[in-house]
Amino acid sequence: MSKSDLEDSSGSDTNVATEALAKKPTVWQRFKTHMKKWWWVYLIAFCCIVLVTVLPLLYVGIPHFANDYINKYQFDYDGIAITNPRPTSFRVSMSKKISMGGGFSGSGHLTAFNASIRVPSSNEEFALFPVPQIDFKNGADINIDQDLDLSCVDCLSKLAVAAATNESFGALVTGDPDLKFGALPTAHLNIHKTMNMNGYNVTDFVNSQGAFNITSLELLNPTVDGFNFNATLALRNPTPFTVEMGHVTFNLSLAGSNLGYVDIPNLTLQQENTTAIVLGNVDESMLIQEFVWGDGDSGDVTIGVKGHSCAYNGVEIPYFAAAIKAVDASAIVDLLKYVKLLT
Ligand SMILES: *[C@@H]1O[C@H](CO)[C@@H](O)[C@H](O)[C@H]1NC(C)=O
Ligand SMILES: *[C@@H]1O[C@H](CO)[C@@H](O)[C@H](O)[C@H]1NC(C)=O
Ligand SMILES: *[C@@H]1O[C@H](CO)[C@@H](O)[C@H](O)[C@H]1NC(C)=O
Ligand SMILES: *[C@@H]1O[C@H](CO)[C@@H](O)[C@H](O)[C@H]1NC(C)=O
Ligand SMILES: *[C@@H]1O[C@H](CO)[C@@H](O)[C@H](O)[C@H]1NC(C)=O
Ligand SMILES: *[C@@H]1O[C@H](CO)[C@@H](O)[C@H](O)[C@H]1NC(C)=O
Ligand SMILES: *[C@@H]1O[C@H](CO)[C@@H](O)[C@H](O)[C@H]1NC(C)=O
Ligand SMILES: *[C@@H]1O[C@H](CO)[C@@H](O)[C@H](O)[C@H]1NC(C)=O
Repeated sequence: MSKSDLEDSSGSDTNVATEALAKKPTVWQRFKTHMKKWWWVYLIAFCCIVLVTVLPLLYVGIPHFANDYINKYQFDYDGIAITNPRPTSFRVSMSKKISMGGGFSGSGHLTAFNASIRVPSSNEEFALFPVPQIDFKNGADINIDQDLDLSCVDCLSKLAVAAATNESFGALVTGDPDLKFGALPTAHLNIHKTMNMNGYNVTDFVNSQGAFNITSLELLNPTVDGFNFNATLALRNPTPFTVEMGHVTFNLSLAGSNLGYVDIPNLTLQQENTTAIVLGNVDESMLIQEFVWGDGDSGDVTIGVKGHSCAYNGVEIPYFAAAIKAVDASAIVDLLKYVKLLT
């Protein structure tokens, strides 16, 4: 929503607003371009524009407009991390320094508020996140580092399963902070934003080009703690932010028979490139048999990967475990590539 709303909400003063905007096409254009970035910057920047151009008309329009920013904004997850998972809570941290630029200036703040997080389909609240007050003066520092307590672990588990089985999922965030900007009257905001994120179909994901690579492979002979190989896995993060998961295990199968299992003792999905040590126990004779007698022309074998568990500091993390257990994929693995790694 943009210019048309300004016009709609301003009644008989419409022409004044339109003229003010028409005289500032570059600012308006720039404003719209910037809008695609961080919502809170644009929330603030919007207020500056309002101040500069159509202030007299829009006193009462601010909440409406600011709401619209937040509610329509495509959130940027850069710099967000989920760490220290526990069965009913985890830590959320985010650190961003925002400079407004573009000739916007002024100071103010967004008051602290409790953001309620819900499952969009059932509207059930599963967490209340205390957002601290955000002060701004020609920019803002957003520093959040606090625990998120879950009131409905099952809700998050369902969301996590959605993230691991389908391509997009969302969470509905609501809250009602006050926005204070300069000498303007306080605006009472009413945030109602569904944050959509991309999950992934694991089968599609593991078979997509470059999704993961084994970058080193060492056979353990004799076995160490029951593992007969140790490998380094490079993985593309399917989530848009950092997630510390802990100890994740998978069971492997070949043509429906149990092939073995793999353990990732310390998995943290990093925003771009994730690397992790993988320890595994596989039935080598079964692999070799498949390799020799399989019908593929190359060294390709199709290995079934089924999620088994996820724990952190030895404690099962139910919402991650649910997502991991939902993983039931088949990965096409080129054995020749890995034989080469051994030589
Ligand atoms: C958020 O909720 C907590 C607990 O319900 C309450 O103590 C706190 O005052 C609330 N904070 C705000 C800013 O409303
Ligand atoms: C994932 O993709 C595979 C192959 O494209 C498909 O067979 C499977 O049904 C999909 N799974 C989900 C949960 O959408
Ligand atoms: C997958 O997501 C699509 C929309 O993106 C939705 O229509 C469909 O019901 C979802 N499937 C599952 C199994 O959740
Ligand atoms: C696996 O390899 C990594 C790095 O190469 C090493 O730090 C780790 O101790 C190895 N683990 C075992 C069980 O060999
Ligand atoms: C895996 O290797 C391919 C080819 O070398 C590369 O394009 C891709 O980015 C790699 N993927 C990861 C996750 O490192
Ligand atoms: C699955 O893997 C776990 C460890 O990763 C192992 O304890 C369990 O026995 C495996 N299950 C099957 C059916 O192989
Ligand atoms: C797990 O990995 C993280 C970084 O990815 C590292 O900081 C941490 O020390 C590791 N923990 C263990 C127990 O190896
Ligand atoms: C991620 O990996 C790719 C390919 O290996 C590399 O080009 C890129 O610089 C890496 N990105 C980061 C942030 O390390």
